Amino acid sequence: MKKKIVVTGGAGFIGGNFVQFMVKKYPEYDIYNLDLLTYAGDLTKHRDIENEPNYHFVKADIADRESITALFEKEKFDYVVHFAAESHVDRSITNPEIFVLTNVLGTQVLLDAAKANNITKFVHVSTDEVYGELDFDPTTFFTEDTPLQPNSPYSASKASSDLLVRAYHETFGLPVNITRCSNNYGPYHFPEKLIPLTISRIVNDQKVPVYGDGKNIRDWLHVLDHCAAIDLVLHEGVTGEVYNVGGHNERTNLEVVKTIIKTLGKSEDLIEFVEDRLGHDKRYAIDPTKLEQLGWKPTYTLETGIAQTIQWYLDNKEWWERIISGEYQEYFEKQYNGK
Ligand code: NAD
Ligand code: TYD
Repeated sequence: MKKKIVVTGGAGFIGGNFVQFMVKKYPEYDIYNLDLLTYAGDLTKHRDIENEPNYHFVKADIADRESITALFEKEKFDYVVHFAAESHVDRSITNPEIFVLTNVLGTQVLLDAAKANNITKFVHVSTDEVYGELDFDPTTFFTEDTPLQPNSPYSASKASSDLLVRAYHETFGLPVNITRCSNNYGPYHFPEKLIPLTISRIVNDQKVPVYGDGKNIRDWLHVLDHCAAIDLVLHEGVTGEVYNVGGHNERTNLEVVKTIIKTLGKSEDLIEFVEDRLGHDKRYAIDPTKLEQLGWKPTYTLETGIAQTIQWYLDNKEWWERIISGEYQEYFEKQYNGK
């Protein structure tokens, strides 16, 4: 059956992979990529689908009530899949305000537009970081019932948006799902995040900054496994429910960096321990049982996924070299900080 799906943040890393996944998997659906094209948004990744009849792009700010209201009234979307956000913890430490504007206010504007137009489902893509941090006991995991205890301005803004999504369901009966996933990696990951930053620096024989002692643990999830999870929740998720997404791939940051160095045949001398991130969460680890019971299973281990991802970065140097070049940097800093 024909459906209209608006994907916010579809020019970013995960939203971009999701747009590609949906356009190719469901030729009968109309996929609208709604994105402001901030420093993290890039449309060149969609060159191969931009002329497909079921792909549409709309440049808009999710926090701009007037344009979002008009767009929803005009297009009458059936589904919203909401990725658009400020997503980098380090940036939230230096400039928290834009995180509140985009992640909290932007989500509320979308919820109002979804409510006014009786959408069938609103999927809110959130993060395991809203649960705060775990200690190093390997038998403890985040479940959907873990209390929200966000530690960074980024995770606090995401937790705030989760609470608004929950409230619109409880108060107005808006049909919603919230997904909370662990750290993603894969093609088109923006090179300010650990894995793509490490690959791009090691390829160029540059030092890799490892925060603190490198023993912080993240639970890595391949972006395509994440896309399949969201597709499942969109179609089969029980209204009002939260689903955690994670593939049991816990590694210390140092282990991740060393794996990349080994795969690229370079020296561990390129590792540089630097000052720790403020409020650096020790460990994230997801219990994905609830989503597995819905029918989801990850297809990548970190070993298969990281090998594929490194190869992708080697094959697509042009994409990330343009992003880390001074010129682009200057452009997006200006946009980001308004300088
Ligand atoms: P990203 O930073 O790569 O992309 C964000 C996209 O949102 C960009 O295309 C940007 O242009 C767009 N955007 C930003 N502000 C906007 C606005 N005001 N209006 C419209 N568009 C706007 O982010 P990502 O890593 O792809 O993350 C996507 C979502 O997944 C986020 O909500 C994030 O919190 C969540 N998440 C990410 C991870 C991860 O490991 N990357 C893990 C858990 C959850
Ligand atoms: P990041 O990719 O920023 O994701 P998040 O903060 O959402 O988990 O960082 C992943 C981990 O890697 C985190 O523990 C911080 C660490 N890190 C470094 O050690 N060096 C770096 O240069 C970056 C960007 C991150």
